[in-house]
Amino acid sequence: MKRSEIRELLKAPRRPDIISFAGGLPAPETFPVKELEEISCQLLREKGATALQYGPTEGEAALREELAKWLSHEKATIKPENILITTGSQQGLDIVSKIFLDPNDIVIMELPTYIGGLQAFTSYRAKMIGIPQNNHGMRIDLLEKLLAKLAKRNKKPKFIYVVPDFQNPSGVTMSLDRRKALLQVAYKYEIPVLEDSPYRDLRFAGQTIPAIYSLDTENQVIVLGTFSKLLCPGLRLAWIIAPAEWMDRMIVAKQGMDLCSPSYTQLIVAEFLKRGLLKAQVESIRKLYARKREVMLAALRKYMPKSVKWTEPEGGLFLWVELPKKMSATELFPKAIENKVAYVIGSAFHCNGKGHNTMRINFSYPSEQQIDEGIRRLAKMIKENM
Ligand SMILES: Cc1ncc(COP(=O)(O)O)c(C=O)c1O
Repeated sequence: MKRSEIRELLKAPRRPDIISFAGGLPAPETFPVKELEEISCQLLREKGATALQYGPTEGEAALREELAKWLSHEKATIKPENILITTGSQQGLDIVSKIFLDPNDIVIMELPTYIGGLQAFTSYRAKMIGIPQNNHGMRIDLLEKLLAKLAKRNKKPKFIYVVPDFQNPSGVTMSLDRRKALLQVAYKYEIPVLEDSPYRDLRFAGQTIPAIYSLDTENQVIVLGTFSKLLCPGLRLAWIIAPAEWMDRMIVAKQGMDLCSPSYTQLIVAEFLKRGLLKAQVESIRKLYARKREVMLAALRKYMPKSVKWTEPEGGLFLWVELPKKMSATELFPKAIENKVAYVIGSAFHCNGKGHNTMRINFSYPSEQQIDEGIRRLAKMIKENM
């Protein structure tokens, strides 16, 4: 196991004088504290004995039922028994890794990809292969070439990991054509797809694109969803939807990790869903993040030199900045801290260690004023070091 480079880097940005674009935190002003307080008090009064007891490994029935209803707009056939509640999607990544991976097994992923995925796969000693992506997501032509090459050597990856909606870290969304092409390639080579989509409901521009699992006709997609960015991460509640053949093993894997996710927070969220509060909650988050993203894009246009490029995500929490090839965001990081602004170095998200001229920037957590001032400081530092 390797200490996460990111966690180390995040220590400096916690200083109050630094404007940090480094975290991946939701805006705390979106947390529905009042509603959760009321539901929580009522729950303890009326069902305290159940709420504070161990629960089933699969998750509380009430939450699985409400979640199946919520997700029916994605895929009408989802039933409560298809859902496994997990303690965050990070646990979902661990569970999937635990049941699929032996040392040296191959996992395929986007370049760049979510750092927590890299951590989970690394701890099971997987061999990770990255496929470049562009503005439409993973390059499926390159994926197919790689799979053909591996097949010639009798090698079959265990799964293909993708973050298709407003990707952490790049903000890129995989196009519908790429999603369909990914499935065709996965079917051809009989490789499961792991779709990790924490930001899917946080779209604030453009058209919704169907989730990969909703397009899947061969039962070959495992999907991870989470309440972390829809409600609050402190609840530590997420879910896996997987084909039945893998679900039993996932439940056994989870049993050995934590027996069950907290009954208490599960029943709170079940009631939150039952009262129909999630829709308005998601709507207000979308509005807030859409505004923050606009402020950030405007600041980037205003302050950044021409040779710096960035993505314009249609949702989520992050955008991706690309410096000219010869510059290194890693080497510039201490200078950014001197200038009292922080980001995450892009190479941390690359399973091949590349991407030194890139950085991930978060726009959900800082205030609008901090976004403008932080981008001004970042641009000044970049110009001075060109
Ligand atoms: C792509 C991705 N997967 C999983 C997670 C983990 O989320 P959770 O809070 O549900 O563990 C995150 C968190 O930022 C993420 O960005």
